Amino acid sequence: MKILVINGPNLNMLGIREPAIYGKQDFAALEAFIRSSAEELGLSVSLFQSNHEGEIVDVIQSAYGVYDGIVINPAAYTHTSVAILDALKAVGIPTVEVHLSDIQTREEFRRHSYVSLVAEKTVCGLGFEGYRTALAYFAHAT
Ligand code: DQA
Repeated sequence: MKILVINGPNLNMLGIREPAIYGKQDFAALEAFIRSSAEELGLSVSLFQSNHEGEIVDVIQSAYGVYDGIVINPAAYTHTSVAILDALKAVGIPTVEVHLSDIQTREEFRRHSYVSLVAEKTVCGLGFEGYRTALAYFAHAT
C-alpha cells in the first residue's frame, strides 16, 4: 500500500518553532519517525513538505492513480484552504488529517478545519505519534 504524507507550511521549522507547542525535535526527526513507522507497518511511504498552497494542490492532483492513501498535516492551510479541500475531493484518495497540537483547545480560529470535511479520520495532539496513528489506520484497513 502506497501512502503519500504531506506536511504544510512552517512544519520545516520544527525544533525552532514554538517548541512549547510543537516540541524540540526537528523536521528531519519527524521525517525519520514517519519513515520508520511506515516500515514497521509494512507501508510504502513518500514524503512531501511545502510552504506553498498551490504546490500542495499540485502534489495532491499528482497523487491520483498513484497512491492508496494520503496523510496530511495542512498546518495553517487547515483553517483557510478550500483549494486543498477541493483537491482532496477531486482525487478521492482516502485521507487522514494529522495535527501535532490539539487544535480544538487552542485559539478559536484553529477549531475549524476544511480538511476535516473530507478526512476519514483526524488525529490531533499526539505529537509525532499522531503520524504513526494515521499510518496505522491505513495499515489496518488492508
Ligand atoms: C498544526 C496546527 C495548525 O493550527 C498550525 O497552523 C500549524 C501546525 C499542528 O500540527 O498542530 O502550523 O497543523
